[in-house]
Amino acid sequence: MYSLRQANSRFRELRRVLVLAASVGSALLVFTVLPRAQTPSAKAPSAASARNTAKKALLVPRSEYVGDQACERCHGDKVESYEKTAHHLTSQLASKSTILGTVGPGENIMRTSNPDLYFRMEAKDGRFYQSAVWGTPPNEKTRTHSLDLVIGSGGQGQSYLYWNDDQLFGLPVGYSTLMHRWINGPGYVDGTAEFDRGIIPRCLECHAAYFESKFPSADSNVYDTTNFVLGISCERCHGPGRGHVEMEDRGTAAKTTRAARRPIVNPAKLSSPRRAEICGQCHGGHGAPEALPAFSYVPGQPLGNYINLSDSSKDVDVHGQQGKLLMRSKCFQASLDMTCSTCHDIHKAEPDLSALSQRCLGCHRVEMTATHSKVGSALASNCVDCHMPMLPSKVVSLDIDGKQIPARFRTHWIRIYSEEERR
Ligand code: HEC
Ligand code: HEC
Ligand code: HEC
Ligand code: HEC
Ligand code: HEC
Ligand code: HEC
Ligand code: HEC
Repeated sequence: MYSLRQANSRFRELRRVLVLAASVGSALLVFTVLPRAQTPSAKAPSAASARNTAKKALLVPRSEYVGDQACERCHGDKVESYEKTAHHLTSQLASKSTILGTVGPGENIMRTSNPDLYFRMEAKDGRFYQSAVWGTPPNEKTRTHSLDLVIGSGGQGQSYLYWNDDQLFGLPVGYSTLMHRWINGPGYVDGTAEFDRGIIPRCLECHAAYFESKFPSADSNVYDTTNFVLGISCERCHGPGRGHVEMEDRGTAAKTTRAARRPIVNPAKLSSPRRAEICGQCHGGHGAPEALPAFSYVPGQPLGNYINLSDSSKDVDVHGQQGKLLMRSKCFQASLDMTCSTCHDIHKAEPDLSALSQRCLGCHRVEMTATHSKVGSALASNCVDCHMPMLPSKVVSLDIDGKQIPARFRTHWIRIYSEEERR
């Protein structure tokens, strides 16, 4: 936690400089937008420049974002409980406490199905390293990279990233919490050592609050190494908070700044599609290259303006597609107001399956069907494993000791499953 705060305060320092740059930027934005609105008779702009102006209007300068610490003063209880959630912990600086795998002797080697290749994880002077080792001593060759960022709170596992100057790459070896061991990261082939997989903005958009791209494009892995915020922030779901904070600080009279006219978003007060899109920015699939740069989506605005999630595939995977699966459920279709918040309180660490099963009982009385009668008293404490089983993903698999093992995720298509289907 210490390191995360450190990164955030570094970010705050830097923001002071950026605020100046950005206020110049927003002045320019006002200048370019206003004249056109006020003079409708002006020469029609070309289609491309009209599109650019329309896109700019969807973008909010970074200076409007204030970070989680700014909320703590007035929403201390929410900030405190939120810090224990998977969302907050989904990206962190690498440290002894954030890396779940063991780097001590005896447990720091991962062998592969290639007898000439193994991986070694080490700590040296407070930093962490991953090495690929080829051949046999004394003719060993190694390639070593630092382990700088941790992705994944560790419910299932973690991936690790390294900086090479200002380029961000994935490391081939990850960690499986379920198997308690180092594994080939998802998509990495056992027996090879691939260190050159660039980390694109979309990956970080789902797993972090913010990364500043040096060359904004969907496939660039070049970032400003001093301007990033780890963990998913309050503002990713509530929108930029500067206006709200200023308004609450000075009282509602001071609605003078541009920002003050944009109040904080409460998802519960949005229309149901706008509300669903807030979760959908990260739980609605990977999508095609983005319509606007990563991290520009503003909660409450139509998501499709920012991220292109339309995909032709009818085969909805259990990985990261909870929204689409839930919509297939009778529970969703037959009740007017089921949302993600019906079962999940996003500001608190996820409760256990027994507590989550109580959410089902908010709408259902348990009928004594044939199967239910057999389960007996254990019934009420676990509706979930039978009606929302963990199912194998068709897109995420792990190559473990040369065998392809699909990762399993909790399906959100709530229905009756046979025992075979659940296996
Ligand atoms: C100076 C105190 C203060 C700060 C700082 C502050 N808030 Fe608030 N916030 C309030 C108060 C007071 C309310 C209740 C206002 C009301 O009843 O409409 C509120 C309401 C809200 C609401 C509900 C709004 C609604 O329309 O229902 C959200 C969401 C929210 N805050 C999020 C945040 C976030 C996120 C941050 C940090 C970026 C933040 N707040 C920072 C004081 C603050
Ligand atoms: C900025 C991206 C992002 C947004 C927005 C987002 N999520 Fe997530 N969510 C994630 C990621 C990434 C994980 C996996 C975190 C991990 O374990 O590392 C996750 C995990 C979860 C989990 C599992 C938590 C656990 O403890 O295992 C739930 C439940 C969840 N999200 C629900 C929601 C809901 C509901 C919303 C909307 C209110 C939402 N998420 C919005 C990215 C996001
Ligand atoms: C579209 C959003 C999205 C993108 C892009 C994405 N993830 Fe995820 N990731 C999720 C969600 C959501 C989860 C939680 C499991 C689930 O529901 O699928 C998750 C789970 C994980 C986990 C397991 C977390 C845990 O605590 O068990 C790791 C590790 C991970 N992702 C790494 C990555 C890496 C590395 C990238 C990019 C190379 C990436 N993800 C790209 C949304 C995303
Ligand atoms: C993953 C998305 C997400 C994140 C991150 C998030 N919230 Fe929320 N927040 C929501 C949703 C959804 C609601 C509406 C809940 C409902 O439907 O009842 C909400 C409601 C609120 C409310 C008003 C209603 C209430 O429950 O009191 C406040 C205040 C608030 N959030 C503050 C925060 C603060 C502060 C943070 C950061 C520490 C934060 N939120 C992080 C999704 C999020
Ligand atoms: C917001 C209310 C609500 C919640 C919460 C809810 N359901 Fe439902 N569920 C319904 C409604 C309404 C139906 C449709 C009933 C009908 O068609 O008679 C339904 C149908 C079902 C069915 C039958 C599905 C089918 O395809 O035949 C199952 C099984 C089910 N729910 C299980 C669950 C479980 C398990 C949970 C908790 C994880 C849950 N429900 C949570 C409202 C809800
Ligand atoms: C051991 C697995 C199992 C558990 C645990 C379980 N169910 Fe079921 N449920 C089934 C099966 C299988 C059916 C289909 C009818 C049958 O075979 O008895 C069913 C049917 C249903 C139906 C449709 C009933 C109907 O009359 O069509 C609902 C609603 C439902 N379950 C809700 C729940 C809820 C709520 C819980 C938790 C309190 C729960 N189930 C726990 C396996 C389970
Ligand atoms: C009817 C209740 C219900 C609703 C509605 C619901 N979830 Fe869940 N969700 C659950 C349960 C139960 C789990 C299992 C938690 C566990 O395994 O500890 C879960 C798990 C998750 C996970 C972790 C998945 C994994 O494989 O580890 C994510 C992510 C998630 N939900 C996101 C969402 C999002 C996004 C929405 C809205 C589109 C949503 N959920 C709506 C009940 C629900």
